[in-house]
Amino acid sequence: MSRFYVTTPIYYVNDEPHIGHAYTTILADVVARFHRSLGDNTYFLTGTDEHGQKVQQAAEKRGVDPQQHVDEYVVRFQEKWDALNIQYDQFIRTTQDSHKAVVSYLLQKLWDKGLIYKDTYEGWYSVAEERFLTDKEYEEGEWRDVKQLSETNYWFKMSAYQQDLIDYIHDNPDFIQPDFRKNEVLGFLRQELGDLCISRPKSRLNWGIELPFDTDYVTYVWFDALTNYISAIGYPEREEEFKTWWPVDYHLIGKDILTTHAVYWPTMLMAAELPLPKTIFAHGWWLMGEEKMSKSLGNVVKPLDLANEYGVDALRYFLMREMTPGQDASFTHEAFVLRYNSDLANDLGNLVNRITKLIGRNFDHVLPDPGETKPEDADLIQIVGELQKKVREELDLMRVNYAIQHVFDVMREINRYLEDMAPWKLMKTDRERAGEVLYNAAEALRLSAVHLYPVMPEKIATLLEVMGTSAKARFEEDGWFEWGHNKPGTVLGETKGLFPRIEIKESTEEPASLDIKPEISFDDFMKMDIRVATIIKAEKHPNADKLLKLQVDLGAEQRQVIAGIADHWAPEDLVGKSVSIIVNLKPAKIRGEISQGMILAAEDDNTVSPLIPLKDVEAGAKVR
Ligand code: ME8
Ligand code: MG
Repeated sequence: MSRFYVTTPIYYVNDEPHIGHAYTTILADVVARFHRSLGDNTYFLTGTDEHGQKVQQAAEKRGVDPQQHVDEYVVRFQEKWDALNIQYDQFIRTTQDSHKAVVSYLLQKLWDKGLIYKDTYEGWYSVAEERFLTDKEYEEGEWRDVKQLSETNYWFKMSAYQQDLIDYIHDNPDFIQPDFRKNEVLGFLRQELGDLCISRPKSRLNWGIELPFDTDYVTYVWFDALTNYISAIGYPEREEEFKTWWPVDYHLIGKDILTTHAVYWPTMLMAAELPLPKTIFAHGWWLMGEEKMSKSLGNVVKPLDLANEYGVDALRYFLMREMTPGQDASFTHEAFVLRYNSDLANDLGNLVNRITKLIGRNFDHVLPDPGETKPEDADLIQIVGELQKKVREELDLMRVNYAIQHVFDVMREINRYLEDMAPWKLMKTDRERAGEVLYNAAEALRLSAVHLYPVMPEKIATLLEVMGTSAKARFEEDGWFEWGHNKPGTVLGETKGLFPRIEIKESTEEPASLDIKPEISFDDFMKMDIRVATIIKAEKHPNADKLLKLQVDLGAEQRQVIAGIADHWAPEDLVGKSVSIIVNLKPAKIRGEISQGMILAAEDDNTVSPLIPLKDVEAGAKVR
């Protein structure tokens, strides 16, 4: 038995939980449930970040005390997580005494070690970000709410750990994932790393944890917040407990908070002489269609609205299936309905109905005898037997969408097996053999469905009950992952529409004609050399608003390509994406910049969308 500790960010308590928060939290829940099902000793931590300027201001605005404000607001997160079936082990709040004590302890420890000093700093201060900006950041970024500020503060000697951190990242390839995020951090660390301001004078901000060595100051929110990952599990007092869980297996975060987690936090841990996290995994961004989600745009999807309409598990499934970890994903209502109907209503729902109906009608709902395994059954049994390992390998890399795909591959195999064996025909000639086939199909379905339990705990529990057994969390211990766990003679239940189809209102308009270009020969087509390329750098074209300047990796070489997609894509959202490129198109200078190739993209009235391969393939792979 191993142990597994996973965390989500602690979310700003002021915000209303939306689909982005829900995604990280469900992802953590899914991997935690999976590890529990394997019998691993598992700990799942989430919570809220409750100090800082924005909370103080929001409380003032409402005319309530900040503590009362956060006590009222935290409930929104707790209720949402309950409703979404999130099985966390602890919900930590940074205003709780036990956490505050640990932050004080850590500050005192670093102070005693001479790793914190007092200094006056003058520079640009971002009110929105609640921090000073470096000169470079100030010059390069677009900042709204900045002002010159001169302030005496306490500083953590973060710079002392720059080289150690770089070495650590090189020596521990799993430390920051996915790889392109690791490269981003290494890029950041090529500039000189400054020291970290870890205090705020009370004259400016009251709502925080007092510095133990100077009560005129409170602690910078990020120093406070990051410490939650160890304060929650007993550092430093409950040594035994702390050692059980630390170092954490996975800090799951969004790409927005990579630097704080992959630079500030590790240097804090080094200073405290604690081991570093095993993996910091930064996932991509949920976009609403093509746009960023933002309160001002009013397009923030409230997770429960969807869950109320289509069910909690349907939402969990969609979020887990649709996002390739690391990359951005787009939320649209159409994609949600499509995914639900094709995967859940069709593939899974129909298979359950088919098997239970056949056994119901022909064997009076009693699971028939499997008999001796025939050569025709061996393939299916083998494929199902390999599933657990496959799913585990994917989940160890946070590739939940691929894990789900493996399960559905097996479901399709079961369907094919039924088609090939045709037990409904066998019933007339060889009832015993028909029973064997139906046993195999039912057992294969049960065993593959078990792997979806972490994603859809309620629906799969129902499904497993229909299959004659009740769902328990410790699947591994109870032999749930073994072929033959379900015994002949078991009475099966019936499904009453596990995943009812979502009816789409079809538009009655005739589709416009396709307006197809003149026919070409196969040879004409083969003259095009199209390859998969990874975008490694993206920036605005210096001379044209609608163009982006992209550097792409083709495996054996790198190139520059100019693409007219700036109206629909922010450069930072393209980095790391795999796209398709015509590589033998004559190079051209476009508004003064060389373009060696062209990106293939689909275009309609609303948007332009580069074509991506559905599975990971090497950069440079041929497209035909
Ligand atoms: O940053 N797509 O809290 P926060 C995907 N308190 N994930 C998203 C998302 C989106 N559109 N929007 C938010 C903070 N997230 C700090 C963290 S941790 C010691 C302190 C998710 O409320 C994603 O996990 O702004 C992101 O990193 C997190 O919410 C930010 O939450
Ligand atoms: Mg944020």
